[in-house]
Formats: sequence, structure tokens, C-alpha cells
Amino acid sequence: MIAVLRASMSGLYSAVGSHRFLCQQGFRPLHDRLAGEGLAVSPDTPGSAAAAIVFATRSRSDSLGAVAEALALVPPGAVVAVTGARTDGIDALMRQIGSVMPLDGRMSKAHGRVFHFRRPVQLPTEVESWAADHALRPNAAGFMTGPGMFSPDHPDPGSERLASHAQGRLGGAVADLGAGWGWLAARLLATNPEIATLDLHEAEARALEAARRNVTDPRASFHWSDVTRLTGSGYDWVVSNPPFHRGRAAEPELGVSFITAAARLLKPAGSLLLVANRSLPYEATLARVFRSVTPLAEDEAYKVIEAKRPVTARSG
Ligand SMILES: C[S@@+](CC[C@H](N)C(=O)[O-])C[C@H]1O[C@@H](n2cnc3c(N)ncnc32)[C@H](O)[C@@H]1O
Repeated sequence: MIAVLRASMSGLYSAVGSHRFLCQQGFRPLHDRLAGEGLAVSPDTPGSAAAAIVFATRSRSDSLGAVAEALALVPPGAVVAVTGARTDGIDALMRQIGSVMPLDGRMSKAHGRVFHFRRPVQLPTEVESWAADHALRPNAAGFMTGPGMFSPDHPDPGSERLASHAQGRLGGAVADLGAGWGWLAARLLATNPEIATLDLHEAEARALEAARRNVTDPRASFHWSDVTRLTGSGYDWVVSNPPFHRGRAAEPELGVSFITAAARLLKPAGSLLLVANRSLPYEATLARVFRSVTPLAEDEAYKVIEAKRPVTARSG
């Protein structure tokens, strides 16, 4: 079998035969798309494989970490191929890998590049540091985080604003949509004794793994979710600092789909507390899916908004 780490959608699978691949993808929406194509896919790296392909990501240390994982699961002499976009730094990645292991071949096409090498019998010492750099470790605030996560080095200023507006106000069943490595959730639990349960929904499996380590309050539970596809209702409060870009491009539609998900997931008398970059155009959606919308604060960078009583099919 061929392991594909950080697997992306590709014509490669059907060209070679989908049954020959074991894909690893920790981002739930992409994981679900790959599974929908009939591929074997898991958030975890497979234990062994005859060869490996790494789809490089925008984070250099995540890509090097994936190459270290690939080298650990294939036998000496096996081929490891790395592919990625020039705009995501594939050329610099290739130079760095090529400086410690001889490359067997390289090819570029349009805005992308592929290069490959064979796993040496003796791994260069650098590979160990690629793995170590990628591991979860405590940041300055004492939370476990890792490269490639949202705001790994410090709590996000938007989440800090949201937490200060939530203090002492939340109770009952609560959800944090896009919970990241859990700073906001930890803060909400610490400052809201009336919270009965807090569900952390997060699409990145590694961020969720970090959140599990960071949020030890027994009221918390952890869900590897694509929030845009969540259904059900039953939360008294939803809190969210929603994502607003995929890759490089700003995509306010992602935040919009978090707002509509919040409306679906709340009880009829429930409320959403949201923080967003000031420039993001969420007001029209909020007015459409909630009966009452109140701006709580706005500064040069962020706005905090409370939206109450979702308009659902049930409530009319
Ligand atoms: C702006 S960050 C907020 C993180 C965290 N609440 C904090 O305050 O640090 C948004 C989070 O949403 C996650 N995310 C992106 N798309 C998602 C989706 N479709 N479903 C669930 N989470 C998603 C991202 O991985 C990221 O951790």
C-alpha cells in the first residue's frame, strides 16, 4: 500500500487505482471528501507502507513533520514523493530536504512541483528534529499547541475579547464551534460555573488532540466535526470565533456557514456569542437567522456580537 500523508483531492488516486492508497487527513471536511471518493482515509498516520506521498501544506514544519512520519513508516530503499504548490513554499522545502538526502528526481508543472527520494538505511539526524518540531509542546501561556494551528503561540485577541463578554453569563448546554486548541473553551469553563456541558467542535484532529490535553474540566467533551454540516438542536449557548479563510484566501462564507450552523444547533430561546474581524460582513446573515442581534463591542480590529432566538423551521 502507498501511504498518502496530508492527503488532498487528486486525479492520482483513480489513475493508479484507489484501492492502493491509505490516506491520512486530519481536517474533517477534506477527510470526508476523500472518503466520499471511496478512498481509505483516517486522521491517523498508517503504521507501515511500501511507499509514501506527502502533500506539502503551507506550514513548513507541518510538511517536514509529515516527511519525518513518512520516513518512519516505509522500509529502507522505499520511495517517498513530496508534492505541493510553489506559492506554499515547495521549492524551499525541496532544497531543505535535498540538503540532507539525495533527491532521485524532480518535476514541475504549472504552479506545482513533485520531487522524490529513497528512504536511506540510516536516517539523517535532521529528520529527528523535523519530528520534534512538529510535536505538540507548551506555548508561553502553558497550553499545548503545534505548528499549523490557529494562533499557536498565544491566545487570539479576538477570543480574549469574546471570553471577557461571556464571563459569568453562560449556563446549561454550551458549544464552542471551531474550538482550536481550546484556549477559549478553557476560559469559558473557568469563568462560567453555570455551564453544565461544553462541547468543543473542531475540524483539525491535531488541534482537537491539543484541546483534549488543555481542557481537563469534566464538563468538556471533544468532537471532531465539520461544523458546517452539523445538525441537531439543543444548545442554550453557542460561542464561536469562526474561521474566515481556507488556505490564503479570505472566505467570509465559511464564517457565514458557522452562523447558520449555530442557528440550527441552538434551542429556540438560545443565544450565539460571536467574535469576528471588524471588516467581516456577517450582519445580514445574523439578521436573517436570528430574531434579535446586539453588537456588544467594537474596536479597531474586532467586533463582539450577541444574537438571540434563532429563526428555525420549527419556530417559523
Ligand atoms: C479562528 S479559529 C478559533 C480557534 C479557538 N476557538 C481559539 O479561540 O483559539 C477557528 C477554528 O475553526 C476551525 N475550523 C475551520 N473549519 C472548520 C470546520 N468546517 N468545522 C469545524 N472547525 C473548523 C479551525 O481549525 C480553527 O481552529
